[in-house]
Amino acid sequence: MNERGRFITLEGGEGVGKSTNLALVADWLEARGLEVIRTREPGGTPRAEAIRTLLLDPDGEEPLDTDAELLLVFAARAQHLARVIRPALARGAWVVCDRFTDATFAYQGGGRGIEDARIAELETFVQRGLGPDLTLLLDMPMAAAQQRLEGRLGREGGERDRFERERASFFEAVRRAYLARAAAAPGRVAVIDASADLPSVQAQLVRELEARVAAWQ
Ligand SMILES: Nc1ncnc2c1ncn2[C@@H]1O[C@H](COP(=O)(O)OP(=O)(O)OP(=O)(O)O)[C@@H](O)[C@H]1O
Ligand SMILES: [Mg+2]
Repeated sequence: MNERGRFITLEGGEGVGKSTNLALVADWLEARGLEVIRTREPGGTPRAEAIRTLLLDPDGEEPLDTDAELLLVFAARAQHLARVIRPALARGAWVVCDRFTDATFAYQGGGRGIEDARIAELETFVQRGLGPDLTLLLDMPMAAAQQRLEGRLGREGGERDRFERERASFFEAVRRAYLARAAAAPGRVAVIDASADLPSVQAQLVRELEARVAAWQ
């Protein structure tokens, strides 16, 4: 029987560099001979990606109810856990995931104003004790991250999704909620200064990985 794999998440607001740096983290682990699954939330399976579309499609005639949004996030998470994350960890693979439940506390909690206790109930129901072993929180001021997002939209095209259309106060609340999560779980969450240039951000990430992964092996 293999040892259970480890579960690493990347978190942070819009445009802070999660997707860019997920590749670095996964490559670093693979270079150490580990089997690595790269995935994201909401999504990570075809059905969960269909739920992602429901969550991200801009509101038209029918705004998405806040509780419905929360339940959809956890429905997608249940599917992702059952089909991808739990089986991978059980066979000894490592999972690197772009966003997980800290994002729910940040967006649906901080951003939308749902009480933490209600989110925590669903967390217990869906995750049954499974959570990340390490979370890399990419933190930077909202305005600078918005500029990066603008740059990406300019280069690669695409529309702003339902969350990217939110107000500045929403993103400030998301950032505060993320930092509160990090302060409450300093052993699990490493806060990375994401406002630095990419080589500096990546150097910080590698330092965290070296410290944590060495301690596990
Ligand atoms: N440290 C950095 N310095 C400058 N630009 C960066 C840095 N990191 C990422 N970028 C650029 O910023 C943009 C946003 O990065 P990325 O798409 O990785 O962010 P994200 O957190 O995944 O965003 P989203 O929340 O929209 O998924 C990209 O164009 C990326 O190339
Ligand atoms: Mg991304």
